[in-house]
Amino acid sequence: MSLSEGLILGIETSCDETAAAVVAGGIHVRSSVVASQERVHAAFGGVVPEIASRKHTEALTGVVEAALREAEIGWSDLSGIGVTNGPGLIGSLLVGVSAAKAYHAATGLPLVGINHLHAHVAANFAHICGDPLTCDALPAICLVVSGGHSDIVFLRRPGDYEVLAATVDDAAGEAFDKAARVLGLGYPGGPAIARAAEAGNPAAYALPRPRVGESLDFSFSGLKTALIRQLQQIQGLPLSEQPGEPTGQMQADLAASFQSAVVETLVRNTMQAVTAAGVSDLAIAGGVAANRLLRERLAEECAAASIAFHRPPPDLCTDNAVMIAIAAARRLDNGAPDNLNLDVYSAMPR
Ligand SMILES: Nc1ncnc2c1ncn2[C@@H]1O[C@H](COP(=O)(O)OP(=O)(O)OP(=O)(O)O)[C@@H](O)[C@H]1O
Ligand SMILES: [Mg+2]
Repeated sequence: MSLSEGLILGIETSCDETAAAVVAGGIHVRSSVVASQERVHAAFGGVVPEIASRKHTEALTGVVEAALREAEIGWSDLSGIGVTNGPGLIGSLLVGVSAAKAYHAATGLPLVGINHLHAHVAANFAHICGDPLTCDALPAICLVVSGGHSDIVFLRRPGDYEVLAATVDDAAGEAFDKAARVLGLGYPGGPAIARAAEAGNPAAYALPRPRVGESLDFSFSGLKTALIRQLQQIQGLPLSEQPGEPTGQMQADLAASFQSAVVETLVRNTMQAVTAAGVSDLAIAGGVAANRLLRERLAEECAAASIAFHRPPPDLCTDNAVMIAIAAARRLDNGAPDNLNLDVYSAMPR
């Protein structure tokens, strides 16, 4: 039996979610436990690294035990352990990696360090995806849109990715988070903007759909500035003055217009990449891939172009440990495991 056919424990602590999961046969979810620190950080309008690592320390052991309990297994039933070792907040990563090393040393289970972004993409292989990605569907294009990344990647084989386009400034999730602050919608901004946008008119305000020359790269920082300018105009303020937070219908219309601008920009570049690469499969990954409008618009475009559209359920798009265990299953089968020298990285080669 290959290692990936057994049960793999995944551990994720790269940002503000403490997560553990058990996956069987590399794709079947046996358990998934996520302890989110969202409410702790909301008071600060974003993730405070020092608080994040302290909260991981408090939560991790309980989360791992809960994942084993939910899967109705003990340590001796596992075949391996995967843990995120980058990219992410160093202090947060260290908590997960140190715990994983301790479990590895105590149980003798093989250990692999996992690239968080490769794991986001690997969520598409989970059997609970509506139309899971399989190796037969490769090569494919995957849009990876999260708090720190907006990449269009060419996926040759699991773990073999070429970044075709990226953001030159803010990531899509970062843009949502910053815009939500301008609109007085709180943190995390993506879900808050999506909720507010439900009551809004996406055509109410004409915000730009930014392009970076002829490339498929993204640039979202100007969109936040355009949103601020729009608010200044509505409130009759000069460029030098900070606008007040909108409320009511105006807030909903601005949220809908902003969401539409981000989504249409992502959809345009992604579909161009699909056409240019000549592939017949598109996948999506990362927290922003949980956005309903983005999922609907890409589904429409893919249907019109006869492209198979793969998307993990929303809770496998935001940070989770199922994706870490899936990526770990493949790593354990295809390379030497790591050891107690496993290090953490704030950035990783992609
Ligand atoms: N429904 C949604 N619509 C839009 N954005 C969303 C939605 N849900 C979450 N997001 C955004 O996704 C981001 C979080 O995604 P994720 O947890 O993958 O990021 P991260 O792990 O912090 O960054 P990275 O994966 O790049 O290291 C946040 O910016 C959040 O606002
Ligand atoms: Mg992430």
